[in-house]
Amino acid sequence: MPVANSQISLLPALSAVLGPSGLLTDPADIAPYAEDWRKLYRGRAAAVARPADTAQVAAVMRLAAAAGAPVIPQGGNTSMVGGASPTEAGNEIILSLSRLNRVREIDPLDMTMTVEAGVSLKAAQNAALEAGCMLPLSISSEGSAQIGGVLAVNAGGNNTVRYGNARDLVLGLEVVLADGSIWNGLRRLRKDNTGYCLRQLFVGSEGTLGIITTAILKLVPRPREVAVAFCAVPDAEAALDLFGRFQAHDAAAIQAFELMSGLGTEFVLRHIPGAVLPLAAPAPFYALVELATSRPNAGLRGSLEAVLEAALEAGTVLDAAIAESEAQRAAIWKLREEHSEAQKREGASVKNDVSVPVSKVPAFIRRATEACARLMPGIRAVPFGHMGDGNIHFNLEQPVDADPAWFLAQDHAIMDCVNEVVREFDGSFSAEHGIGRLKPYMMPDWRGGAELELMRRIKAALDPAGILSPGRVLP
Ligand code: MLT
Ligand code: ZN
Repeated sequence: MPVANSQISLLPALSAVLGPSGLLTDPADIAPYAEDWRKLYRGRAAAVARPADTAQVAAVMRLAAAAGAPVIPQGGNTSMVGGASPTEAGNEIILSLSRLNRVREIDPLDMTMTVEAGVSLKAAQNAALEAGCMLPLSISSEGSAQIGGVLAVNAGGNNTVRYGNARDLVLGLEVVLADGSIWNGLRRLRKDNTGYCLRQLFVGSEGTLGIITTAILKLVPRPREVAVAFCAVPDAEAALDLFGRFQAHDAAAIQAFELMSGLGTEFVLRHIPGAVLPLAAPAPFYALVELATSRPNAGLRGSLEAVLEAALEAGTVLDAAIAESEAQRAAIWKLREEHSEAQKREGASVKNDVSVPVSKVPAFIRRATEACARLMPGIRAVPFGHMGDGNIHFNLEQPVDADPAWFLAQDHAIMDCVNEVVREFDGSFSAEHGIGRLKPYMMPDWRGGAELELMRRIKAALDPAGILSPGRVLP
């Protein structure tokens, strides 16, 4: 096993702390943790540490710090940018948080939940619903993604338009630092101006500054009414027009406003069993709108119909289906949430998780589609995502019949081509997936100078030996 000299006594020491079920060293047991779900990052690791509580996480970090061993925290391993997968070097220890899996407390009056890092987002959502509240963070990978990872990457997702990103929902954190000390910031206060806001330093740091072990999250009231429509539109401009109509009607009711291209939806219909288009004919683009309210008798269904009727009359909407039941609502969301899986089954794809001002989304899509077609004839643009907050997944699918490996080898040229257009619109090259191992090379160009220098100083202060997720985020 490729373990450095200083690490020779590390594995027995870890085993003593974690017990037999807490440490995996057999390559066959490590393998599932060493590959990301996109199957783009397949590495090796010295071991997988599976602590059962915060004290064990701290003990692992004390031992790793003493040995100078690199550690990568891992949750559900659903990163889109390889952040939680080990490198080929084989000397990293994967620190899985999945055994820290308790929802400790839900307080419906304070509207908070205390949840450990290894709880899946879906399980946390369900626990909140059972308590009459809602955890308003929703992402396609919520069945596997875990709270610690969701916070570490500051996940965004479908409800950002209304409730913000993961960082907007965090009141308190408990974090194990690189030297094994524990920062207990598990406060549930809505107001607390007592020095620097440390929790926000760890949210979005992608495991490079500390290991989130427990969080206190804000909840919102459970909606009394939810109304969902799937709308065919002639182009992305029409989808933006529709978004404007819903904003003008009742902006506070919009819970999600998602865009899908005709091609991306065709992939879902082709590859995902049970996916059905709820309309008579396919269209160039689709918008999914979800309205929700906790107000009694708000008549959301009426709102939805009124806005859609006016939009149909104006030609902004070509056709629309309104969900009549929970099953139909789920079927509509399936068309959106299976986009990534369907693209994977269609062939190789290069992801661009970008954001631009909401008003610029259609122009961005047009310009980026043209730029990519010039770069690689036959490339298939699949723009989709969170139109209501300006975050578009401008994914590119390989040309039909192209060699997937050849296509993936062009990933930097493709991402750089899209990013040039993003820059014209004052956007961001990474809206919600983070930097991981895929995008550190972009950092000097986009965040260079004082900003990157400041990030390096923060990293050096919190992890002077550079053992936490080395090579991720910072180039
Ligand atoms: C999603 O919103 O479904 C994912 O963040 C998108 C992706 O696969 O690029
Ligand atoms: Zn997304």
